[in-house]
Amino acid sequence: MKPRNNTRPSRRLNVGVVSWLVTAGLMLAMASTSIFAASTDDVGLAQVSAARSAFNDVAAVLRSPRCINCHPAGDVPRQTNAQLPHFPAVARGLDDHGISGMRCNACHQEMNQSNGVPGAKHWRLAPRSMAWAGLDDHELAEQLKDPNRNGHRTLDQLIEHVTSESLVLWAWQPGGTRDAPPLTHEKFVQRFKDWVAAGALSPQSKKE
Ligand code: HEC
Ligand code: HEC
Repeated sequence: MKPRNNTRPSRRLNVGVVSWLVTAGLMLAMASTSIFAASTDDVGLAQVSAARSAFNDVAAVLRSPRCINCHPAGDVPRQTNAQLPHFPAVARGLDDHGISGMRCNACHQEMNQSNGVPGAKHWRLAPRSMAWAGLDDHELAEQLKDPNRNGHRTLDQLIEHVTSESLVLWAWQPGGTRDAPPLTHEKFVQRFKDWVAAGALSPQSKKE
């Protein structure tokens, strides 16, 4: 057998080089997986969870009686925290301002009245396309973002609407013994902005 060129010292060196390479390789592999994880999966997950958590807060307000009483399914506004059908009996009519003889502004003025009738500028029922009652989180988010159903609003215009629309602001000055929504108005607007900043992602549908 031909004697091998490798002498003991150089063999030892090789072992040293190999183990160094393996160690360096492992360290690189570990470093690069964590870099990649941070730049793709983790950020994706962080964004999904930021959107989810912001939308939870947004939805809690939208579903509060003060908002949803005016965004009902069907043609009849709701009243009280129990969301009972409006008494006296009224309906949206052709323009969401009520049927003739029972127009909303026959009772609702631009401000809350001392006799207990709530009021604000633009008082009328939200159009059918903006009905929220009965929607799950996914459907609610999809409704908000759909220009064909949200009054042709962009996300920025939605932020503007929830920031300054008189009907929205009324919910925090509802008159009588009515409860305001669960978050302050300022916090609600902030969480709405957080949701938009996180891509306005819709929560997953439970029906999928
Ligand atoms: C008195 C009835 C009334 C109340 C109370 C009310 N809304 Fe509305 N809402 C409307 C009407 C009417 C529109 C349609 C306005 C338009 O398109 O110009 C609307 C539209 C909206 C829209 C835009 C369309 C959509 O569905 O995406 C948002 C967002 C909204 N309301 C949020 C709220 C929030 C939040 C509250 C409670 C804090 C609230 N509203 C309370 C009547 C009401
Ligand atoms: C005949 C008078 C009258 C008419 C017409 C009328 N309302 Fe009312 N509405 C009231 C009274 C009174 C209350 C207060 C009831 C209470 O809080 O106990 C009320 C309460 C409400 C509330 C409940 C607000 C809340 O969250 O507590 C909504 C929403 C509402 N009306 C929407 C409408 C809409 C929309 C129209 C037109 C389609 C309309 N109303 C027409 C008298 C009227």
